[in-house]
Amino acid sequence: MTICASRIQRTLNAAHADHAANTTGANADYIPSLSTVDPNLFGIAVVTVAGEVIEAGDSRHEFALESISKVFTLALAMEDVGPQVIRAKVGADPTGLPFGSVMALELHGDKPLTPLVNAGALSTTSLVRASTPSQRWQRILKTQRAFAGRDISLSKEVDASEQSTNFHNRAIAWLLYSAGAMYADPMETCEVYTRQCSTMVTTTDLAVMGATLAAGGTNPVTGHRVIRDTYIPRILAEMTMEGLYDTSGDWAYTVGLPGKSGVGGGLLAVAPGRLAIAAFSPPLDPVGNSVRGCAAIAQIAHDLGLNLYQSPTPVRTSQAAPAPPGSST
Ligand code: DON
Repeated sequence: MTICASRIQRTLNAAHADHAANTTGANADYIPSLSTVDPNLFGIAVVTVAGEVIEAGDSRHEFALESISKVFTLALAMEDVGPQVIRAKVGADPTGLPFGSVMALELHGDKPLTPLVNAGALSTTSLVRASTPSQRWQRILKTQRAFAGRDISLSKEVDASEQSTNFHNRAIAWLLYSAGAMYADPMETCEVYTRQCSTMVTTTDLAVMGATLAAGGTNPVTGHRVIRDTYIPRILAEMTMEGLYDTSGDWAYTVGLPGKSGVGGGLLAVAPGRLAIAAFSPPLDPVGNSVRGCAAIAQIAHDLGLNLYQSPTPVRTSQAAPAPPGSST
């Protein structure tokens, strides 16, 4: 069932108005350049599988993609090595621990478990086929651009800020190497991973990227196929499991859509076959998800009836409902 653009626009406007005054949360500060982004910025966008674009607020303001990049590098690595290799070498389970956790590796036999935490993302970046780090980076950037349908580019400032402070990720890269779960040079991989997090997107770009997943791998704005449709369910499953880190389960319970957050304040949710919702607002909750982004997307998904676990049409039966267990008749 398609939802008309005017209804989506009203829903976006309402969510923007309802959450704009929420000042809870704080910008990420472990990456210095993110701490100075205006915390009042707040954009929302929806892109449908028909390529319609609906926006509210600061939807054209650019911000750093950060962890949301993990989804698109996963897509490229899956094209390169196939979903079985991703499952065997990286995994498809939640870690139950923060995105930068070293303990998660120790607890799970040195397997990262998911491409959507830093360890699994580093491992996944190293699986992207390339003969040089520059080629690996160029292929990742090309993939991000194909998903966005626009020549998005690197922020030299965010990249420099992050490359000069990413000691924790460098340690994770060496741990992966010692565990046999790093498939290219660890420091070169860490540099490329850090760069893939430092590209700049608008909320609308992010919604186009998500709509490409919602549309089975073809970008609905450019019409170009970006990834094989059979890989999409695996990517969305990974997003459901770990896209919002420690709150992924709660997000599935309350919103019912695969999502992915980034510490730049971006958040993406995908309604397969229908549309993607993106939001941007820098202040984060304690696990690293945009506070306004979560609230706005949850409200929009609810108001548009997008919960994946809800049957679209009520099932009618002529039989009376069975008595609940334990009741005596
Ligand atoms: O590697 C990092 O820590 C950052 N470049 C990305 C982390 C991130 O976005 C986590 N997301 N919520």
